[in-house]
Amino acid sequence: MIEKKIKQIVRDVNDFPKAGIVFKDITPILKDAVLCGEITTALAMQLSAVKIDVVAGIESRGFLFGMALANLLNVPFVPIRKAGKLPYKTIQQSYDLEYGSATLEMHEDAILPGQHVLIHDDLLATGGTVVAASKLIEKLDAVVAGYSFIIALDFLNGKDRLKPFSANNFALAS
Ligand code: PRP
Ligand code: ADE
Ligand code: MG
Repeated sequence: MIEKKIKQIVRDVNDFPKAGIVFKDITPILKDAVLCGEITTALAMQLSAVKIDVVAGIESRGFLFGMALANLLNVPFVPIRKAGKLPYKTIQQSYDLEYGSATLEMHEDAILPGQHVLIHDDLLATGGTVVAASKLIEKLDAVVAGYSFIIALDFLNGKDRLKPFSANNFALAS
């Protein structure tokens, strides 16, 4: 079962990047090519009932499976990046996350009004990151089609913050 495999392979690192944080290190997944393929397929299967025109992945860990997922779904991929990285005209949104704060940017022509955009990230913690991504999508008059994570940390109640944007919220493990 994919959830069991993910839980077994993800490494907990205590007190990174700050004291008190238990950091979920997904890099061991990336060393297992078979599991990477299984995860991409499982992410796509969870979304079979969701209309998706575009997958948006969030820098940096959301790029790893976001592009693979877009490719499997045969839809475009859009990068949402940390501030100062995208070269063309951007829109911005600042946010707080479990252990800090940052600003996300997206190219202003990355998606079209009315498109259904699936947001992918490796992990949901407080939800601050994907809420900021959702605001960027809505600023361009597009629709948040749903959320796809490899891991959702239940104890931070991040999923409650996503409900105003979309009821479609999928994770492979908690
Ligand atoms: C991590 C993780 C998610 C976010 C989740 O990213 O990859 O994007 O935090 O936290 P939240 O739900 O509390 O917002 P991070 O900003 O550490 O950067 P990285 O992906 O570049 O490692
Ligand atoms: N992003 C936010 N919280 C995290 C955690 N506990 N582990 C890995 N990435 C995170
Ligand atoms: Mg991230």
